Amino acid sequence: MKALVYHGPGERGWDDVPDPSIFDATDIIVRVDTTTICGTDLHILKGDVPETTPGTILGHEAVGTVQEIGASVTSVAPGDRVLLSCVSSCGRCRYCKEGRYGQCLGGGGWIFGHTIDGVQAEYARVPFADNSVYKIPEGLSDEQVLFLADILPTSYEVGVLNGMIRPGDVVAVVGSGPIGLAAVLTARLYTPGQIVAIDLADSRLEGARRFGADVTINNGNEDAVAKVMELTDGLGADVALEAVGVPQTFELATELIRPGGHVANIGVHGHAVTLHLEKLWIRDVTITTGLVDTFSIPQLLRLIVNGRLDPSLFATHRFALDDTMSAYDTFADAANSGALKVVLQGPGSVGAPDVGLTGAKAAA
Ligand SMILES: NC(=O)c1ccc[n+]([C@@H]2O[C@H](COP(=O)([O-])OP(=O)(O)OC[C@H]3O[C@@H](n4cnc5c(N)ncnc54)[C@H](O)[C@@H]3O)[C@@H](O)[C@H]2O)c1
Ligand SMILES: [Zn+2]
Ligand SMILES: [Zn+2]
Repeated sequence: MKALVYHGPGERGWDDVPDPSIFDATDIIVRVDTTTICGTDLHILKGDVPETTPGTILGHEAVGTVQEIGASVTSVAPGDRVLLSCVSSCGRCRYCKEGRYGQCLGGGGWIFGHTIDGVQAEYARVPFADNSVYKIPEGLSDEQVLFLADILPTSYEVGVLNGMIRPGDVVAVVGSGPIGLAAVLTARLYTPGQIVAIDLADSRLEGARRFGADVTINNGNEDAVAKVMELTDGLGADVALEAVGVPQTFELATELIRPGGHVANIGVHGHAVTLHLEKLWIRDVTITTGLVDTFSIPQLLRLIVNGRLDPSLFATHRFALDDTMSAYDTFADAANSGALKVVLQGPGSVGAPDVGLTGAKAAA
């Protein structure tokens, strides 16, 4: 089969590799119908993720069709369409029993395209299938559910739920990349009073308005803290979600929060950040952190089925799966291409328009 293989920093190929096969009784094999690329894949390609060794197939977000099941798998059968979660769950360890699949001690957690072969391929081996895949309800296209593999649960669980957004709250979202935009989209489920999106790129802020932000601030040329204070009678935001992952944006989130408010950090940080406890201690501020668990996939899926949530807005570009190499170029050049999520469609991709239209820009 063909697959996108990591060959060490800066090097990738769309290579011929052996077809995957069942290894453990809890495995299934799926044909990958629709997949996408994540900012994390770009981090791996830069060499920032040393656990990912050259030769690994990348990718951790996909929709596929079950081809073969291991001896102990009971919840899916060949022919079923399934969503693969970016996080696998052994279902047996202490953390899996608490719904903290991201912290799995039994060989799960974030493994796809990280410590085992991923899903940017024609076929994939999926471990712990009974606990880690979700059957796709009749009538939904692949693209409607694809973003439940990673970005929607991430922003919902680590941002919206940890931040305890309540109706009427002023919610500040720092960063308007896919994660910040997914935070804007899922924050709206709680009817906030106002959503304020903050980013350095005007193009990203335009995106934030399309996703439902009420106010946008370019903190490259505006004073974000002053503007949030102005909007909130000098108090600050009720909830601030950090969706970038650099020291400045975490500090910004803690500066624009009101006393008694919640700062929920979503960004992955590679550098030490200063926590200004000398200013924060007296303000009753709650700070949370987290890695996505994807326990919310069934809940978010029901919202999509009922027409209450529509993540298809994230699909800015579509490519044939065979053209994954060009899709990487477009995704990596987001500043010029305007890419949010690039959708890769295999021959079995269900329901999405433009199959085979290489590099087609998705209809708005
Ligand atoms: N916690 C988790 O489980 C989890 C899961 C997935 C991703 N993440 C993390 O979420 C973060 C966001 O992901 P993404 O895919 O949206 O990233 P992205 O790089 O596509 O978007 C980041 C956005 O932040 C903006 N930005 C950069 N510096 C800024 C600054 N100083 N002030 C304001 N805006 C600034 C950029 O213009 C960009 O729009 C990353 O750190 C990613 O690793 C966390
Ligand atoms: Zn990801
Ligand atoms: Zn586990």
